[in-house]
Amino acid sequence: MKRVGVLVSGSGSNLQAILDAQKAESLGAEVRLVISNIAGVRALDRARDAGVSAEVISHRDFSSREEFDARLIARLKEHGIELVVLAGFMRLLTPKFIESFQIINIHPALLPSFPGVHAAKQALDHGAKITGCTVHFVDSGCDTGPIIAQRAVPILDGDDEETLGARIQAEEHRLLPAVISAIAHGRVRLVSGSRRVEGSV
Ligand code: GAR
Repeated sequence: MKRVGVLVSGSGSNLQAILDAQKAESLGAEVRLVISNIAGVRALDRARDAGVSAEVISHRDFSSREEFDARLIARLKEHGIELVVLAGFMRLLTPKFIESFQIINIHPALLPSFPGVHAAKQALDHGAKITGCTVHFVDSGCDTGPIIAQRAVPILDGDDEETLGARIQAEEHRLLPAVISAIAHGRVRLVSGSRRVEGSV
């Protein structure tokens, strides 16, 4: 089974969706390690409650991005990780990290619209009527990698960042485990020499 490492920075509700899918035996992959760059976050408790190794590697303990990433790479390799999932991990990764693993990220918007932080607020501020979530392979840009799958979410009159964010997250929790399963089973693939991902989730 494909060995998965999950990087988190916060609540870990997407991590929980992955762990629930693993428990229900619908993931087709095994979460071996969870790493948070922030101490004390709920994601760490969720991992430990599911019996998965969880540790904190704080970016503040390193003098450069390269040194921080080198530690992440070393720990992930020690656990034999083949697929890295960024589930609310709020740090940019160095080229060295990106070439070391297959990496996917979940983002709360229909990329390429509204990259970066506060994606739901960006959608509201633009008066968009539809937003959603995207899972994509990670490249050296911020939320720019090849798109694997997206789900649309309506923006309703009276929505604020919280109500819209919750509606997007409900969709994320279905999409992210489904993408991991599709990758684990070889149902999606990046067309070589292009940014297109073929196959269905
Ligand atoms: C998720 O909504 C994810 O899409 C977002 O952070 C949230 C983490 O929630 N990621 C980004 O905005 C990345 N640009 P969680 O910790 O409850 O899974």
